[in-house]
Amino acid sequence: MSIKIMGTGSALPELVVTNKELEQMMDTTDEWITSRTGIRKRHIAVTETTTLMAVKASEIAMKKAGIEPEEIDLIIVGTVSGDKCFPSTACQIQEALLAKNAVAFDINAACAGFLFGLTIADAYFQSGRAQTALIVGAETLSKMVDWKDRSTCVLFGDGAGAAVVRKTDTGMLHIVQGSDGTRGHVLACDNRPVNTPFTRRLFTKEFFARASFAGESFPGAACTREFSGDNLSAPDYLKMDGQEVFRFAVRTVPKAICQALEKAGILPDEIQYFFLHQANIRIIEAVAKKLGQPMEKFPTNLQKCGNISAASVPILLDHVNREEKLKRGDKIVMAGFGAGLTWGAAVIIW
Ligand code: ACO
Repeated sequence: MSIKIMGTGSALPELVVTNKELEQMMDTTDEWITSRTGIRKRHIAVTETTTLMAVKASEIAMKKAGIEPEEIDLIIVGTVSGDKCFPSTACQIQEALLAKNAVAFDINAACAGFLFGLTIADAYFQSGRAQTALIVGAETLSKMVDWKDRSTCVLFGDGAGAAVVRKTDTGMLHIVQGSDGTRGHVLACDNRPVNTPFTRRLFTKEFFARASFAGESFPGAACTREFSGDNLSAPDYLKMDGQEVFRFAVRTVPKAICQALEKAGILPDEIQYFFLHQANIRIIEAVAKKLGQPMEKFPTNLQKCGNISAASVPILLDHVNREEKLKRGDKIVMAGFGAGLTWGAAVIIW
């Protein structure tokens, strides 16, 4: 028993922002961005929302798969940038698609979201809880980055990718997943802080002075940003230690891919394509080198799309699928890695 990808879809915002345009907005250069990351442009949402893009990508994937909305019994969305805290993006997609028989929920595994979604779908299939799943990665990261921070805002883009997957007896799926919460701080974005009449009354400078004098500790202290009473409702943005993330990716991804291949009893040479999370061309080159595989086996679209977190693997899959480069029976690898830290690698037969 395993998983087969029946159809893929993707949607990108209309507006394309080039590195040259960013040069006009901040102290950066096309040369810096391209040489450090490979990224030349990205799509940025203006009127599009995370849900709208996710619905569009899902509709295309369902059409390609040739399935009706009622056939979907599971909708999983990987996202860190949904339009609402609740209802989930998955439930909003369910409503838009009229997929009335589905169980729908979001997961937060950042750039590994699509891989985590695939793992959950597999578990549902194996336990007999579902037959057909819609797995979506959808992000509007442009609203999470600080457009005054040139070290992060140039890296990301917006978009959504989707895949309809089905339980089969003939396919194959071997997945490796991992998490390391101890290094969560290297790539993080705070949610809105607790800001009620009670916290404002409690968190005074005198309170902190008293607490530290008495050697007390309390969980709220760790979560409270630079305290000044007024800034409790200020938005927070994505923060990243780029070099740490780079080291994590280059160390972890080849290992996870090798573990997944070993579970499947397949050699890297037998793989047609490696679909890696599109964070940075130098990470992809390093992984290819460690696996001893040519770059031709590693499709990329980061040059045109930037890093779209959970959406990057399904969008790339759809782009290659649309070019009709995948044949039934091809063995492929997908791998995602990101905030958490989280990572996942899967081997499947197309
Ligand atoms: N334009 C021009 N200069 C810049 C820019 C920019 N956009 N951003 C940073 N700089 C400057 C810095 O200020 C610094 O200047 P200084 O030497 O005068 O202090 C200099 O460039 C070098 O900065 P570093 O942060 O050391 O640059 P680095 O070579 O590490 O490259 C990068 C940064 C591209 C982020 C790199 O660390 C990387 O590829 N990391 C991988 C992380 C990644 O891809 N994350 C994506 C999100 S995470 C994920 O999807 C898993």
